[in-house]
Amino acid sequence: MLPSHLNGHSPLARRRPHLTAASPPTSAGEPPAAGAAATSAPVSLEEHDRIYFQSYSHIGIHEAMIKDRVRTDAYHSAIMHHQKFIEGKVVLDVGCGTGILSVFCARAGAKRVYAVEASEIATQACEIVKANNLTDQVVVIHGRVEDVDLEEKVDVIISEWMGYMLLYESMLPSVLFARDKWLKPGGLILPSHATLFMAPITNSERYEGSVDFWCDVYGINMSALVPLAKKFTSEEPSIETIGGENVISWPSVVKHIDCYNFTTEEFKSITAKYKVSSMMLAPIHGFGFWFEVEFNGPQESSPNIPSDLNPLEIVQKKRRRSSEDTVLLSTAPEDEPTHWQQTILYFPDPIEVKQDQTVEGSVTVSQSEENPRFLNIHLECS
Ligand SMILES: C[S@@+](CC[C@H](N)C(=O)[O-])C[C@H]1O[C@@H](n2cnc3c(N)ncnc32)[C@H](O)[C@@H]1O
Repeated sequence: MLPSHLNGHSPLARRRPHLTAASPPTSAGEPPAAGAAATSAPVSLEEHDRIYFQSYSHIGIHEAMIKDRVRTDAYHSAIMHHQKFIEGKVVLDVGCGTGILSVFCARAGAKRVYAVEASEIATQACEIVKANNLTDQVVVIHGRVEDVDLEEKVDVIISEWMGYMLLYESMLPSVLFARDKWLKPGGLILPSHATLFMAPITNSERYEGSVDFWCDVYGINMSALVPLAKKFTSEEPSIETIGGENVISWPSVVKHIDCYNFTTEEFKSITAKYKVSSMMLAPIHGFGFWFEVEFNGPQESSPNIPSDLNPLEIVQKKRRRSSEDTVLLSTAPEDEPTHWQQTILYFPDPIEVKQDQTVEGSVTVSQSEENPRFLNIHLECS
C-alpha cells in the first residue's frame, strides 16, 4: 500500500502551472496528512478569485489556448456540428476570454451571444467584436457569470472550462451555475460530457533525470540530494507530455461527467476505485491522468460510463461515434498533444510489476477548502 497525498497549492492559471504539494506522501499504512499543507496566511476567497482572474488578463495564456489547434478546432467543429441548433438562437459563452468562441457562434448564425468574462481581457474581447462587425449579435459583459444579469434565458451554453486533470481551476461550477440560472429547458451545453482517466505509467528517463541524476554530478557524489529529489518529484503533480508507450495498462475511468445533470455538490469530492492489469514487466513510476470531452446535444446524451466497463470498449466506442456523429476533444497520451498535456503523480520510488499483474487502489480528487481553485489528490495503490 502506498498512500500518497498531494495538495495542489498554486496556480493557477492552468496555462502557467505551478502546482505544488506541501505534504509529503505518508509512509505505508499511515493515514494521509489531509490538509497538512497550508503554511501561508489565510487568503479570502475573493482574493483567490482576484488572483485567478488576473492571470487571465495576460495575453500569453490566451495565445497558448488559441494556438492549441486540437482544442480550438474541436470547439469550432462542435459549433459547426450543432449549427442547425445554434442558428437564430441565444448563446451564453461562460468565460469568453478574447471572445473567440462567441465569434464562432455568431458566425454560425446565433441571433445573440452573451460573452461573459470576469478578467480584464473582456476589454479586448469587446474591441474584437467591434472589429469583426458583430456588435449587433455579440454582447460582451465584463463580470463573473455568477453576478451578471442577462436580458433573457439562453438556448446554448458554451464554455471552455477544463483545467489540468480536467478539474483543476474549478471553473465547472460556474458553468453549472449558469446552466441552472440561464439555460432554457432542452438547451444545448458545449461540451456536454467529460471523462477523466487514469493509468499507471512507466517513465525511467524522467525519473532517472530527476532522482538518479544526483548520484553522479560532474563526477561528484551528490546522492545526499536523492531523498529531497524523491520528495519533490512525488509531492508535486507534474504537467508533462507522455506517449502511449509510457502507459502500461488500459486506462481506468475516474469520473464521467454529464454536464446536463452534474451538480456542484458532486464536484466537491470525487472518489474512484481502479483495478488494472499491467501489460508488461516494468517499473511503475506513478499514475498519469488525462481527459476527454464530448459535444453532444441534449437528446443524444452519452450513456453513463461505468468504471468497470472495459476501457478499451469505451475508447473504441467513442472513437467510432466521434468520427460519425459527435465531436470529441481528447488529451490522451496516444493522441495529438494539447496544452493540457497529461498530469503525472510520481511515486517516491518505482514499483516493479510483472506482466498481467493487477494494480489496484483508489483515488480521491477534492476541491481544496482553502482555495477552491486548487485540488487535493489522494492516491492509494497496491
Ligand atoms: C480557459 S479560458 C477560455 C477563454 C475562451 N473561451 C477561449 O476558449 O479561448 C476561461 C476563461 O473564463 C474566464 N472565467 C472563469 N470563470 C469565470 C466566471 N465565473 N465568470 C466569468 N468568466 C470566468 C477566465 O477569466 C478565462 O478568461
